[in-house]
Amino acid sequence: MKQYRRLTLVLLAEVALTSEVSTTPLQIRILGEDLVIFKTTENKVGLVHKNCLHRRASLAYGKCEKNGIRCCYHGWLFAPDGEILETPGEDPDSKSATKLRKTFKLGAYPVVEFNGLIFAYMGPTENIPEFPHYDVFDTLEITRRPYRIEYNCNWIQVLDAIMDPVHTSFLHGQSSGIQFSKGFAEVGELEFFERGIQYLGCNTRRVDDYVWIRVNELILPNFTQAGSAFATDGTKTRYFGRSSFTRWVVPVDDNHCIALAWGNFGERGDPMKYNSKEGCERIEAGEIMDRAWKERQQRPGDAEAVEGMGSISAHKGEHLMPTDYGVMVYRRRVRKLIKNLEEGKEPPQPQQKKGDIIRTNGQDTVLRAPKRNIDDQQFDAEKMSIKDRDRSIINQLKDIEKSGAI
Ligand code: FES
Ligand SMILES: [Fe+2]
Repeated sequence: MKQYRRLTLVLLAEVALTSEVSTTPLQIRILGEDLVIFKTTENKVGLVHKNCLHRRASLAYGKCEKNGIRCCYHGWLFAPDGEILETPGEDPDSKSATKLRKTFKLGAYPVVEFNGLIFAYMGPTENIPEFPHYDVFDTLEITRRPYRIEYNCNWIQVLDAIMDPVHTSFLHGQSSGIQFSKGFAEVGELEFFERGIQYLGCNTRRVDDYVWIRVNELILPNFTQAGSAFATDGTKTRYFGRSSFTRWVVPVDDNHCIALAWGNFGERGDPMKYNSKEGCERIEAGEIMDRAWKERQQRPGDAEAVEGMGSISAHKGEHLMPTDYGVMVYRRRVRKLIKNLEEGKEPPQPQQKKGDIIRTNGQDTVLRAPKRNIDDQQFDAEKMSIKDRDRSIINQLKDIEKSGAI
């Protein structure tokens, strides 16, 4: 926990959906810490240590007021930034109360609320990064629906799935029937790209007369996107359709993580009819999450695949193959970044400079590129003279090469 906590906390951690946060305190666990998130009656969000600074009563039982949260046990009042505002059982002018207010603060983290998700910065205060701006924040023709999904396993197991594009052909296209669209069942050709801290796993499938390119994306440590889930079956032209989700996979502790995300719907995302809780779950995991064992066993989705390994999968028991290249490469980088951090070298931020917009690549594109078979060129030319036949076949092949349709 300590190691990846350090890696993750120098960036922003996503902690909750805005819709979950109210004047009733919510207890959450993020990066191995027990916290309470709340809203003051003036709508200011606070994210503080769960246990009161006085004698450790849980602030999950606290009362939210105009200026902060009041502990139920002896009434101490804390501001959203952790400042001790009141210690009502004590003489406020006493030496001990004055010293306490000056010297101590309740642990608290700065938060940013954006588009229905709450992000917190949990690293050293001297290194607070700018709130990263990803290009997909501005994509028009997309309606975003915030969602959360809980996984009973280590966060790396969930990230592995995004860098493992071939699993979509088997888990989502064959083992459990067609969970997304029919084209998923085709096994494509894989390509992987490492671009700074951005990792891409590209699966190119041929589906009838079309070529379907689907790009899964991981920007370290935990930002993920893919292509759409239901927008295409690979047989309809689509140009740079964007991801069905924009998602952060956040460690809760060593054995649990949460995906906090937007489901992306509309022309550039998934069809609007999936804009529901169940739709987000199906897009996220191939299946809805809350199912009986029998159903899960018959139609496993991502949750069954990644949780079934155990809450921490032992990598030494794996046998990695060329299709696991993406998994190998990004894991190696995570290990390296952790090692660097231990030696005092900060990991790179996705956003290089203030004001930059991070270019993302999760997408799918479907192009019409009809297959040309031997019968098109060679058999059809059999009636020609020997000289003309050869020339005709060669010219046709050159034309095909020029048009890119093969
Ligand atoms: S334990 Fe919170 S005020 Fe005493
Ligand atoms: Fe999957």
